[in-house]
This record gives sequence, C-alpha cells and structure tokens, in this order.
Amino acid sequence: MAVPADPPPVVDATAEMVAAAYEDNKLAQVLYHDWEAQTYDDKWSISFDERCVEYARDRFEAIVGDVHEPLPYATALELGAGTGFFSLNLKQAGVLDEVHVTDLSPGMVEAAKANAEALGFTVQGRVADAERIPYDDNTFDVVVGHAVIHHIPDVEAAFREMLRVLKPGGRFVVAGEPTTIGDWYARRLGQLTWKATTAITHLPPLRDTWARDREALDESSRAAALEAVVDLHTFDPADLAAMAQRAGAVDVRTRTEELTAAFLGWPIRTFEAAVKPGVLGWGWAMFAYGSWKRLSAVDRLLARAVPARFFYNVGITGVKPS
Ligand SMILES: C[S@@+](CC[C@H](N)C(=O)[O-])C[C@H]1O[C@@H](n2cnc3c(N)ncnc32)[C@H](O)[C@@H]1O
Repeated sequence: MAVPADPPPVVDATAEMVAAAYEDNKLAQVLYHDWEAQTYDDKWSISFDERCVEYARDRFEAIVGDVHEPLPYATALELGAGTGFFSLNLKQAGVLDEVHVTDLSPGMVEAAKANAEALGFTVQGRVADAERIPYDDNTFDVVVGHAVIHHIPDVEAAFREMLRVLKPGGRFVVAGEPTTIGDWYARRLGQLTWKATTAITHLPPLRDTWARDREALDESSRAAALEAVVDLHTFDPADLAAMAQRAGAVDVRTRTEELTAAFLGWPIRTFEAAVKPGVLGWGWAMFAYGSWKRLSAVDRLLARAVPARFFYNVGITGVKPS
C-alpha cells in the first residue's frame, strides 16, 4: 500500500485566487471546501454520535441492500471525505475497520483527521483527487463516498479509479448524490425558505436574537455564488448506473431516497443556515432528524408507486470483477 503523505497547508484564498477559481474548477473546489471546512459540521448538523452513526449505516445498507458481505470491511478508502462524516460514522457502526480519508481540499483532510483523533481513531489522511487516486491497484476492500461525485468533472474516470484501487471482488458505495429532478425542487424550496427566513428574522422583535449579521449573510451570498460553480452534476439514476458499468463495474445497483423527507429537509436545512448560529439548539436538531425519519418511512412506501428519479438522493454501488 502507498504511504500517505502529510496534507499540504490549508490554502488561504486571495481575491485573485477566487477570481481564478471561476476559470479552474479544481481550484474552485479547493478554495470553496477549504473555506467551508471549519464550519462544515455545524452547517450540516454533522456529529459523530448515535444519530449520525445510524444515519450513515442506514444509507450504506439501503444502497447495498440484501447483499451480506462480512463486516467490517478490512481496508476502506473514502473519497471526498470532507470532515469524515461517512467513513468515521461507518467505522463507529462496525461497517469499516482501517479507514483512509481523502479529499481534494487540504482543509477538509485536516478537519477529518481532527474528528478522527477526537474519536480516538488512527486514520490515514491524504489529499487526493478522485480522478487520479494516489494509491496502488488492488489496495482496498471497499471505497466509499458521500455527496462527492457531483463535484467531480469526469465521473466515469472516478469510477474507473475506484475500481482500479479496489481488490478484485471489492465494492464501491457512493451515497447522497442529487438526482436531477430532486435538485430542481430542493433549490427552489431552499431559495424560498432563505428569502422568508431572512425577511422575518430582520423584523425588529426578532432581529437581535434570531437574525444573522449582515457580514455573515453577505458571506453566505458569496458562498452561494461559488457553490453554483462547484456543484457540477445532478444524476438520472439509470444514466449513473450505465456510467459505472462503462467504467467496468459489475453488480451495479442504484437506490433513490427522500421525497417528502426532502420537501421538509431542504427548508429545514436552509432555515438552520439563515438564522443566527446556536439559537436553535440540540432539541431542534433532534426534532428535525425525527421528522426526517418519519417522512423517510413514508417515502419508503411511496417508492412502490413513485418513479425512482423523482426522489432527491441517489446512491450507487458496484463491484470490481473478480
Ligand atoms: C459536499 S462535500 C461532502 C463531504 C463529505 N463526504 C460529507 O458528506 O460530509 C464534497 C467534498 O468533495 C470534495 N471534492 C471535490 N472535488 C473532489 C475531487 N475531484 N476529488 C476528491 N474530492 C473532491 C470537496 O473538497 C468536499 O470536501
């Protein structure tokens, strides 16, 4: 197995670099995600407790389905790991053993390593582009990713790379990618919620306690502009499966989730981002997660009648031929 290098220092974005990022998508990814790294867990209510362990394990199992492979997978690679949400929680769930967290953003790799350390885990962290994974062929038992491939210019190249670094018979599991239809309604729900929340929280009785300050809102607007640059793809589930097969995967299957849960989830996530940090508290996070879970149960029933492409999230798994 290749020896991981230490991540280079976190990039400090100058105005010129931000301008250049509009010309160079990989640079845009690094700048945007480095900038997000320190606040990412708060923004997305990411934690490493029972709530997120259960969430990560359920997403993994929903995609892999009724395949029963021995757990834990001995060596695991996460691509676009961010702060480690998926692989560190899957490790806690007993799904993964030795974890290698990688990301294009050095800031995210640092954040993931810090989260791993706080959990008492020894993980390898490395800056890596999913289109050119810096590990040897036939290295891992499983490759995982969550909300990452929609940022990668050449998704088929990333699937080819996942298959290259997997051992024969090894599996990749990528969760939490936006469907084309789901992204359309999620963005509109988010925009409406943002406008309504910022208008209401700036009314005099609420302004002091609920409103985010002007500087934070301006920063969010700049982030939203760059977000439009870094979000490259949405997926039709059938096209995504065909892409993985062209890359050489077998036993490919996709699974979509969240319909009514996304109708609630996107307004909730946007509301959380639009109010002053800290005002909502843990009770709110549990309420939001509980509501999401109840609606997800409704969605599992609806999945019997509603076509897969209408759901918000798509996940995909496939296997490297033996
Ligand atoms: C939406 S975040 C998801 C982070 C994490 N997986 C999660 O679910 O919380 C997407 C991550 O993909 C990373 N990324 C973007 N392009 C990448 C690439 N070409 N190779 C590897 N990682 C990439 C970003 O730096 C970012 O950390």
